[in-house]
Formats: sequence, structure tokens, C-alpha cells
Amino acid sequence: MSETRTAAELDQEAFVRGVLEDFYRDGKPPWDSGITPPELVALIEGPGALTAGRVLELGCGTGTNAVYLAQHGWQVTAVDLVDRAVQQAREKAAAAGSDVTVLCADATRLDEVGLPGPYDLFFDLSCYCGIPPHRRDAYTAGVTKRAAPDARLLMFGYGPGAFDDSWSGVTADELSARFAGWQLADVTPGTNPVPTFWFTLRRAAA
Ligand SMILES: C[S@@+](CC[C@H](N)C(=O)[O-])C[C@H]1O[C@@H](n2cnc3c(N)ncnc32)[C@H](O)[C@@H]1O
Repeated sequence: MSETRTAAELDQEAFVRGVLEDFYRDGKPPWDSGITPPELVALIEGPGALTAGRVLELGCGTGTNAVYLAQHGWQVTAVDLVDRAVQQAREKAAAAGSDVTVLCADATRLDEVGLPGPYDLFFDLSCYCGIPPHRRDAYTAGVTKRAAPDARLLMFGYGPGAFDDSWSGVTADELSARFAGWQLADVTPGTNPVPTFWFTLRRAAA
């Protein structure tokens, strides 16, 4: 019984990876706008902006926001599952003259690539919501282990039902349940035609 389930989970991970690789192989993926979202700009430059520190971007794609963060004084590490995305992110950082460490890594298996942290900020633009549910606790554990006291996690995610499957998407209730030791400080609906959300989580201060 449990072996069947494990095989199904492995299939799901392989399927997701294959879909992502196809997007990057076929050219510019639809999400690759090259524009840093105003929600991130507000956190970095707006009233009450965070003091620049160490940031880990999860699912960085071609690196637009990693470069933006580096240009605003942050020490940036960025990871993506797909090597073509990683290569493009490295090229984008080099072209911008930005010092960004980009690694090909699974956000649910951060121990495999070291990255001891601690990080003051985690940024996730539509990565977590596409991670198979059975890997999400590992994502949470990896982030929590690397979080500095009072760290923030700014996450954009699609709500359930946005895509034609039974499992993708994320809700505030899910994040509250999974992120023990974090406070869900803000949930702001996105402006997309399907349900989307900007979540801000805050790690407990030491
Ligand atoms: C919807 S795309 C968004 C990319 C980028 N954040 C952007 O907005 O341009 C999701 C990204 O997360 C990456 N990704 C998905 N699952 C991942 C995982 N388990 N670990 C690391 N990256 C992952 C994908 O390869 C893809 O680049």
C-alpha cells in the first residue's frame, strides 16, 4: 500500500519536473515577465523597508528578482530545479554585474546543496504552489532551519483550482498549519483572473 503511494509520489515529482523543463526548453516561459513585482519592491524599497541582509530565492526562474535584490544591497542566493533556468539566471546576473549565487537545487531538498543560512528573507514567486503536496513539509523544514530570527518569507501563490489538476495551489490555512514557529502576517489577494495571493510570513524573533 505505502509502496504504491511512494511510486505515485515519485511519478508526480517526475511529471512536474518534466513539465517545467519543457517550458524552459521551448523558449521563454509564460511567467517570465522580466518585471519585479510591486509587492517585492514595496518590501525592499517602500515605507518600513527591510534592512538589506541575506536572502534566499526559491524557484528563481531566470533570475529577474535575484538581480533586483542584489542591486538593492542584498546578499543573494537563488535556487531553481531546472538547469536551463539556472543558466539563464547566471547569465542575467553576469550581464547586470550583480553578485548572485545561483544553484540548481530542489527547494524541498536544500540540505543536498548545503546553504547553511541563516537568511533574513525568503522570496518565492509561484514556486511553492506548484510543489507536490508530499514535498511541502520538507520545503517548510528547510526554510525554517535556515531562517534568522524575525526572518520574512514573501510568497506569491496560486489558489487551489487555478490549474487543471487536483493538487496544485496554496491557501492561507495551509501555510498557517505547515509553518510552525511563523506568523502569517499578511495575506493580500493578487490581481490575476484566477485566485492568487501574496503571503507574508514572519519567523518568531529569538
Ligand atoms: C512559475 S515559475 C516562476 C519562476 C520565477 N519565480 C518567476 O516568477 O519568473 C516556478 C519556478 O519554480 C521552479 N521550481 C519548481 N519546483 C521547484 C523546486 N522543488 N525547487 C526549486 N525550484 C522549483 C521552476 O523550475 C520554475 O522556475
